[in-house]
Amino acid sequence: MTILVPETLYTPEGYRHGLAVAFDERIRDIGDPEELAERYPEAERIETGLRSVLYPGFLNVHVHLEFSANRSRLKYGDFMEWLGSVIRERDTLVNEADNEVMTEACREMLRSGITSFGAVSSFGTDLEVCRKVPQRVTFFNEIVGSNPATIDALYQDFLHRVDNARSCDPSERITPAVAIHAPYSVHPFAVRRAVALAKEEGLPLSAHFLESPYEREWLEKADGGFKAFFEKFLKTNRPVTTIEEFLAHFDGYPTLFAHAVQTTEEERGRLAQEGHFVAHCPRSNRLLGCGRYPIEDQRVPVAVTTDGYSSNWSLNLFDELRAALMLHHQGPLQRLAERLIRSVTLDAARSIRSDAGRIETDAPADFALLRLPQDCDEEDLALHTILHTREAEAVWIAGEQVETKRPEHQSD
Ligand code: BEZ
Ligand code: FE2
Repeated sequence: MTILVPETLYTPEGYRHGLAVAFDERIRDIGDPEELAERYPEAERIETGLRSVLYPGFLNVHVHLEFSANRSRLKYGDFMEWLGSVIRERDTLVNEADNEVMTEACREMLRSGITSFGAVSSFGTDLEVCRKVPQRVTFFNEIVGSNPATIDALYQDFLHRVDNARSCDPSERITPAVAIHAPYSVHPFAVRRAVALAKEEGLPLSAHFLESPYEREWLEKADGGFKAFFEKFLKTNRPVTTIEEFLAHFDGYPTLFAHAVQTTEEERGRLAQEGHFVAHCPRSNRLLGCGRYPIEDQRVPVAVTTDGYSSNWSLNLFDELRAALMLHHQGPLQRLAERLIRSVTLDAARSIRSDAGRIETDAPADFALLRLPQDCDEEDLALHTILHTREAEAVWIAGEQVETKRPEHQSD
């Protein structure tokens, strides 16, 4: 048993002072430090000192590790140009993303306090790394394919990847999960089968959804930038689904929809009503010319996430939170900062059916210890946490402190 005594504790009810946390692989008790010391006399006690703030480990629920080798090969600014560049460069990038490259991407996440991530896996080449890293990984096996002639083979390959993720040892902390690529790129037959599998087995479920203006134009009018794309690559001139038909698959099963930038008020009302979540990727959305997700719509819980190196320049979650803070310039700053912290803890955890993301009795003992540079008002704690954190000072996963420092030869 360990007892951590920080100056401030972040709980689902807000910031608390003068409390300690006792844990083994789960949080066993929260209370007065002296009382806990008496109750658990054998426990190791760690006082973390002035201006230390203990957070639950952060969750980055949408990342593409398989594209971790990209820095400047892909074309930014316009979604269709970006997609074209992904198709051209995909083989090179996926080849370059060897285990060392993907492991370093996971270490980068760990340094920013990410103890759990959602890996959207197109090919399964990232599973070996995910099994070895200390973090909890929700392994989103992705299905893609709109051509009905190829669905059976694609679905079998998808099932095989799900099986591989399912057969990992519990000590590897892999949760198998299902990802539908997008409404325009997956045939409804395959969507139906993959969603049914998630529902039957209670697996976390995710889908890219209404990311770019082109996507809406294609699904609603069979026109716009996707028209030439589908004619060229898939020899078809009509979409496989409508927005309404796509969403209906997920009714009654809370799902994580990535981006949702181009959703209408009415569509977000439906997401809220069905208990869905939005993975909000502010930097990716900006770089791919997709627009701004209206985070001020409080009805839908959001998880702020980095997306992958295919549309970002770092996997540091605090870089992402700072981008969100700058992008959503309307509304009260402190309230936004608090919502953003919740979006990488409790709400992110709920979006992947995880019981982490909270410092409460019985929750997993995953922590990120941060330190503020100066004292600040209580109401500014979330804001200054976002502004001033580059890396966590210490990280625990399942009760064990994990090494987060860079290898000697590396620097920023
Ligand atoms: C498809 O298989 O239809 C597809 C795959 C990736 C992007 C767009 C479409
Ligand atoms: Fe994505």
